[in-house]
Amino acid sequence: MLITSKPLFVYLQRPDTGDWVTVGRYQAGSEGTGYFRYAPSYADAGLNWAIDPLNLPFHPDVEIAAPRYGGLHDVLRDACPDGWGQALLRREHKLPQNTPMARYLVLASNADRWGALAVGTRPKPSVAALAIPKLPQLQQVVEELAALNAQQPPVHARLRRRLVETASVGGARPKATLQDEDGGYWLVKPSLPNDVADIPRLEHFARQWGAASGLRFAPTVLHPAAPGQGGRSAVRVLRFDRNRERRAMCVSAASLLQTEYPGGLSNDRWSYPRLAEELRWIGVPAEDRRELFGRMVFNAVCGNDDDHPRNHAIVFDADADGGGWRLAPAFDVVPNPVETPAYLAMQLSTGRFDITREAVLADAHRFGFGNREEAAAWLDALLDRIGGTFDDAVETLDGAWRQLLAERLQYNLALLR
Ligand SMILES: Nc1ncnc2c1ncn2[C@@H]1O[C@H](COP(=O)(O)OP(=O)(O)OP(=O)(O)O)[C@@H](O)[C@H]1O
Ligand SMILES: [Mg+2]
Repeated sequence: MLITSKPLFVYLQRPDTGDWVTVGRYQAGSEGTGYFRYAPSYADAGLNWAIDPLNLPFHPDVEIAAPRYGGLHDVLRDACPDGWGQALLRREHKLPQNTPMARYLVLASNADRWGALAVGTRPKPSVAALAIPKLPQLQQVVEELAALNAQQPPVHARLRRRLVETASVGGARPKATLQDEDGGYWLVKPSLPNDVADIPRLEHFARQWGAASGLRFAPTVLHPAAPGQGGRSAVRVLRFDRNRERRAMCVSAASLLQTEYPGGLSNDRWSYPRLAEELRWIGVPAEDRRELFGRMVFNAVCGNDDDHPRNHAIVFDADADGGGWRLAPAFDVVPNPVETPAYLAMQLSTGRFDITREAVLADAHRFGFGNREEAAAWLDALLDRIGGTFDDAVETLDGAWRQLLAERLQYNLALLR
């Protein structure tokens, strides 16, 4: 390995005690290579949590090369910002468009990073805690995000600095983290001037509908547009990678599927049944594979075709017996506001992206169903619940949207029944 830069130390907030430890070291090599090694001190302390149970299983003394993302390991890519945060960092640090991902990893603040990892140049963990805006500042945060998005000067200068400093969470849309009065952390996602619909409202609606159908969604709260927000609505989503000050390890489905998102060359590996098998492989309880099947069906019915591999994740549950990985709550489920999609972003069964009963059921055994009849009965019961809870959930939308989504529901139910 030709070393071209200083090593980067990777820190982990221990799932059991909450203490920060150095879990390993990342070293960029030449020509887009990179290597990770678990820290000897981590192994010596008797610790053995794998930060990515599939791609970085715990093997002390082994240097593991990164096969994707120009030499950055998948789970470290998961700890980087996406489109939104990267754009802010490029502006702030005058970086070129083709800035390597590892640069974003270093520049993004540890204070708000996704999951329980942090990075630094010192061998001993040092994770700065920045004050996170509080819930009563929601309107100001929404205003400031709008100004940032429009590349306008700050409205609230201190808040602007804080939002730029902490733009580490992923996703393409403007967002920020807020803390409620109980110490809970929420992601705030405002509407945008170019949106063709009230996206925050649609996201909140989908959450209410999915949860009423029996699926496990991250809780959301809708903040309808108020005059003080310049006519902008916002939705906030409870962060599943935080429990007050405690962070939970997370890994994206992109990492589990061993695919790059965004930017991968092909969607061959984007697949719900493949993801279900990876969940099984890493010891996620069987019920979570059915939950994934249910979410696939729900996305098909509501027309959420933005169900890409970074919109699913796993989270480490320290309270489970001995600690274990679980499918994270559903998030970023938004019915397509422009058209009723015929395809999902991920395969429902091998090679099939189409929203049809055949595609839903063809690989049902890979989700843990005993046979096709069992899967078909489970599917029909879920479709009944999805159909039966629509009327209540849709009350949050206005008349035109109710009509559009009611027609979509009937259309898709006919394809899936
Ligand atoms: N409730 C949550 N708890 C913890 N992390 C979350 C939660 N919701 C989203 N995330 C993380 O933040 C990222 C961005 O959030 P989200 O997908 O909602 O934003 P987006 O900008 O709409 O995304 P996209 O780029 O898919 O349009 C997700 O990929 C996920 O890593
Ligand atoms: Mg997303």
